[in-house]
Amino acid sequence: MTRISVTVDGVKYTDEVEPRTLLVHHLRERLGKTGTVVGCDTSNCGACTVHLDGISVKSCNVLAVQADGHEVTTIEGLAKGGELHPVQQAFHECHALQCGYCTPGMIMQTCSLLSENPDPSESEIREGLEGNLCRCTGYHNIVKAVQQAAKAGSGASSQGTDAGGSGVADGSPAETAEAEQTVGATA
Ligand code: FES
Ligand code: FES
Repeated sequence: MTRISVTVDGVKYTDEVEPRTLLVHHLRERLGKTGTVVGCDTSNCGACTVHLDGISVKSCNVLAVQADGHEVTTIEGLAKGGELHPVQQAFHECHALQCGYCTPGMIMQTCSLLSENPDPSESEIREGLEGNLCRCTGYHNIVKAVQQAAKAGSGASSQGTDAGGSGVADGSPAETAEAEQTVGATA
């Protein structure tokens, strides 16, 4: 077992993990962050997308030990003070989901996309989300939601989450997590 400390959605968690544990499993099974979901076992659906130090990653493709000392933002860390993040709001208003299974990953990837390109064309949106699959095939409204979020100026706030997710990506000092938890040896 390896001891790791990872700041997730603004809270620093210290835990013992097996070196083979995937970040997505650590988030879901040890930290209760079940908003991040698993949609495949081939690293191609993107449902598990989170931000690692402000950069979107597929958390099924990252080991928990690789997140040691880093900051993770999940879909659960986007809303602030009970207000949906603008990208979440746009997905809601544009009905950009059907079953909703792909939605957490779509939203996290959209935040990254708009952070890098605040005014993407439709083809740039489709290209930016190509690593995220919607099995309900609701891509049309997803693209509309991204366009609406872009119009709302979501790019500037996309990765400025409660967790300080942009800390490393933009070179600014990472926020210090105010809360800290040690995860019990037995869940
Ligand atoms: S669960 Fe990670 S890409 Fe599908
Ligand atoms: S809304 Fe069902 S998988 Fe995308």
